[in-house]
Amino acid sequence: MKKYIVKILNENISVNVNEGDHILKGIARYNSSHKANGCRNGGCGVCKIRIVSGEFEVKKWSKEQVSDEEFEKGYALACRVFPKSDMVIEYIGKNNKK
Ligand code: FES
Repeated sequence: MKKYIVKILNENISVNVNEGDHILKGIARYNSSHKANGCRNGGCGVCKIRIVSGEFEVKKWSKEQVSDEEFEKGYALACRVFPKSDMVIEYIGKNNKK
């Protein structure tokens, strides 16, 4: 199975994400008590990230957590982003904007 490496810049770690899995799954495998662990359903916002680079697909999430405008600026939810290449991200967390 293909694995992608997702580097979390502001935490200085890299996690492996299997093809077809969302980024949060890789983060949780690396550290099951990471702050990003939440609903895994695009609703709570604790897994908010900013995508720096890489290819990916997304599934629907609550616009209350990440609006379309924010998504255009690179914000997303780790539980709804499925890597299609190695990626570089920053962890943001709930309602934290940079
Ligand atoms: S874990 Fe709740 S929105 Fe991602």
